[in-house]
Amino acid sequence: MTNAYHEAQRIIKKHVNAHPDDIIINAGSGMTGVVNKLIRILGLRVAEQLRPLVHLSEELTPVVFISHIEHHSNQTSWLETIAEVVVLDAEPDGTVGTTSLAIALETVQEPAIEDRLLFCLFKCYRNPHAGS
Ligand SMILES: Cc1ncc(COP(=O)(O)O)c(C=O)c1O
Repeated sequence: MTNAYHEAQRIIKKHVNAHPDDIIINAGSGMTGVVNKLIRILGLRVAEQLRPLVHLSEELTPVVFISHIEHHSNQTSWLETIAEVVVLDAEPDGTVGTTSLAIALETVQEPAIEDRLLFCLFKCYRNPHAGS
């Protein structure tokens, strides 16, 4: 089983042109399960009833940047964490791009952005249900 697992990982990495150091997170319950597994690995979710007791300074509050075209599972899952979620605006042509990321980074200048934990989570495939 372990060999089959590693072989599957190797095939997926090759298929998506991943770097050998890139990590694939597997879960048995689809994309939402993977996002939530990543949140758990990062330790960013606090039980809802304990939320009022958790007071993070701004520099300890991670920032998650997502694009305007994320599936809601890659938005609402992060809204349930201790992170600040920033949704990037669309580029003038409607795409996801570095201009809107640069603008969003400027909105998170205080406290110094280099002191904060940042995550950029963008979908990088074409949704076959989204049309051309
Ligand atoms: C981009 C994207 N993310 C997440 C999901 C949710 O996936 P799942 O049902 O596997 O959790 C979908 C479902 O279509 C999707 O297209």
